[in-house]
Amino acid sequence: MSQVLADYTLRSMQSADLDDVLRIESDVYDYPWTATHFNDSLRAGHQAWLMLSAGHIVGYVVMMLVLDEAHLFNISIAKAYQKQGLGRALLSDMIARAKSAGAKHMFLEVRASNVSARALYEKIGFVEVHVRGGYYQTDSGREDAVLMNLEI
Ligand SMILES: CC(C)(COP(=O)(O)OP(=O)(O)OC[C@H]1O[C@@H](n2cnc3c(N)ncnc32)[C@H](O)[C@@H]1OP(=O)(O)O)[C@@H](O)C(=O)NCCC(=O)NCCS
Repeated sequence: MSQVLADYTLRSMQSADLDDVLRIESDVYDYPWTATHFNDSLRAGHQAWLMLSAGHIVGYVVMMLVLDEAHLFNISIAKAYQKQGLGRALLSDMIARAKSAGAKHMFLEVRASNVSARALYEKIGFVEVHVRGGYYQTDSGREDAVLMNLEI
């Protein structure tokens, strides 16, 4: 097990963290969230958590809890820390948090081409429930959004 996986901590995201978060965001996505997306989520009171190791942000997640549903809006691991089990750990932490808040279903949507995220979600037990054809912009046109659900 990597050292980071063994000793990471979580704390809630604040607007003062956004410079660091946006640096990671623009590094890991072709179409990153902007400060407005994060600020809107923080203002709306969504669950927004940082994954920290030795004082550094190594990942983060944004999730909305409503009634018995959890909606995962963003989960990201900084490039240098990917493929060490951190994404799986962070998502598992959020599933546990959602469950203890009374959520019975978790929903997310993912670009059809996002092989690593889809592999992670399937390993955790998410199933595909719908495809929104041509939902996302790409450099060469449009691509599908895959909607996935986990019963928790
Ligand atoms: C998707 C993401 C969060 C996964 O985080 P991670 O820490 O790299 O993933 P993990 O190491 O926990 O891997 C968990 C499983 O996902 C799968 N996986 C992860 N990266 C993969 C890749 N590049 N290719 C194929 N499968 C991959 C593996 O099956 C792995 O299972 P294993 O440990 O049994 O091999 C990370 O790649 C990321 O931040 N990507 C950019 C942002 C993004 O696309 N977020 C999702 C938006 S919907």
